[in-house]
Amino acid sequence: MTAALGIGVLGLGVVGRGVLDAVQHNGDAYASRCGRRLEVRAAAVRNVAARRELVPAMVISDDPMAVVERDDVQLVVELMGGEEPAAGCIEAALSAGKSVVTANKEVMAKHGPRLLALADQHDAELRYEASVGGGIPIIGVLQRDLQANDVSSIRAIINGTTNYMITAMSSDGASYDDALADAQRLGYAEADPTNDVDGIDAAYKLSILASLGFHAQVSPTQVHCEGIRALAARDFVHARDLGFAIRMLATARRTDDGLDLRVHPTLVPTSDPMAGVEGVLNAVAVSGDLIGTVVLEGPGAGAGATASAVVADILNVAGRLASGQPPRRLGQIDTSPALAPLADIRVRTYLRFEVPDRAGVLAELGAVFAAEGVSIASVLQTPHPERSDSADLIVTTHHCRDGAVDRVLANLKQSASVNELGVRLRIEDRRDHD
Ligand SMILES: NC(=O)c1ccc[n+]([C@@H]2O[C@H](COP(=O)([O-])OP(=O)(O)OC[C@H]3O[C@@H](n4cnc5c(N)ncnc54)[C@H](OP(=O)(O)O)[C@@H]3O)[C@@H](O)[C@H]2O)c1
Repeated sequence: MTAALGIGVLGLGVVGRGVLDAVQHNGDAYASRCGRRLEVRAAAVRNVAARRELVPAMVISDDPMAVVERDDVQLVVELMGGEEPAAGCIEAALSAGKSVVTANKEVMAKHGPRLLALADQHDAELRYEASVGGGIPIIGVLQRDLQANDVSSIRAIINGTTNYMITAMSSDGASYDDALADAQRLGYAEADPTNDVDGIDAAYKLSILASLGFHAQVSPTQVHCEGIRALAARDFVHARDLGFAIRMLATARRTDDGLDLRVHPTLVPTSDPMAGVEGVLNAVAVSGDLIGTVVLEGPGAGAGATASAVVADILNVAGRLASGQPPRRLGQIDTSPALAPLADIRVRTYLRFEVPDRAGVLAELGAVFAAEGVSIASVLQTPHPERSDSADLIVTTHHCRDGAVDRVLANLKQSASVNELGVRLRIEDRRDHD
C-alpha cells in the first residue's frame, strides 16, 4: 500500500469531530477503499486549552495557517466556517499544490471560481460536497452524474433551520418567535439567526448549485432573497385551505431572458414533493433534458451526515493520489451569465393585508389591482386576530409579471383601503419549471 496520506483538519467543531471519529473508527475499511491509510496529523481550533480530542501523534494548534504549511500535511480539510481565515487558508494550501476538502458554503459561494481556478493552476483539487445539503450528495451528482444533461432548473430546500421553523409553524400553529426559540433550544438555529431566517445561507448554497448546474459563475449577490420573518401561523392555515404548503424554496431556472435565481418562502401544492420535506431535512430537485427530474432528499446537517460527505471527498482525493491520476480539470464556464429581471417573471402571488373593516374596501382594492392588469384568483376576508376594527384580507392572483404586483403594492401603500401589507408570497408549482 502507498504511504499514509497526512491530513490537517482546520476546525474540530460539530463536523470536524464527526470527521475525526469516522477516520479513527473506520481506518482499515477506508484504507482498503482508497488504497492509502488516512492519518490526521494536525488540527487547528481557536481554544486549544479546551480540547478533549486525543489522537496519538496529532498536533493541535490555534494557528490554522501553521497546519496548512506543515510538511507532513498533504491534504487540508477546512471545517472552521466563515469567510476568513478559511478562504486564506484554502488559497495558501492550493497555492502550495495541496488538495483541499471543505464544507464551507460561504467561501465556495463568494470565492469558489477563483479558488477552483487556483486549484487547476497548481494541479491540486478542491472538493466541497458538504457545502450544500450536508449529507446529500448533490455536488458530485451535478458535477459528474448529470453532466450529460442540459439542466433547466434546480429547486431546493437547503436550509434546515428555516424548514424546521416553517414546519413547526405549519403543524403546531407556532408563532415565528416561538418556532425560532424552539429551533435555538434544539441547536438548529444560532443565537444570531440572520443568515438562516433572511435566506442568506440558502442563497450561498443556491449560487453554488446554479454555478454547477448551468456551468456559469453565479454570485450569491445575484440571488433575489427574501426571508421568513413576516410569516404568521395563520398564513399556513390559509395556504392549506387553498391547497398549498409553505416552504423556503431556493430556485434556479433558465429562462429565455437569463437565469431566474430566487430564495423566498413559497406556496407549493400539497402534492409537490417539496411539501413533504419536513423538519431539518433538505431536498434538491434537478430537471434536465435527458433525466427529466431527479429528487434527492436527506439530512442537511449534523455531525454524521456532514462527515459522510466530507470523508467521501477525502477518500476520493486519497484514491486519486494513490493511483497517480491527475485532478479533474475545470470545464469552460460562462463568467457573466445573463440574469432575468424578477419584475419580468410571471408568477402567481399570495398577499395578506390588514384592512379597515368597513364597506367598500374590497371594491377599492379590486380597482387598484385592475389598474395594473393584475387578475385576482381568490379573496378571503377573516377577522383580524388582534384588532376588532380591522380584517385580514387574503388575495391570490393569477399569473402576472412580478413587477405588476410591485406597482399594485406601491399604490396600495398610498391608499386608505389598506392599513398594512402583512406578507407577499409567490405561488409556484412544478409546471413553472417545465
Ligand atoms: N454543523 C453542520 O451540521 C454543518 C452542515 C453542513 C456544513 N457545515 C459547515 O461545516 C463547517 C463547520 O461547521 P461546524 O458546525 O462544525 O462549526 P463549529 O461547530 O462552530 O466548529 C468550528 C470549529 O472551527 C474552529 N475555528 C473557528 N475559527 C477558527 C480560527 N480562526 N482558528 C482556528 N480554529 C477556528 C473552532 O474552534 P473552537 O472549537 O476552539 O471554537 C471549532 O473547532 C462550516 O463551514 C459549516 O457551514 C456544517
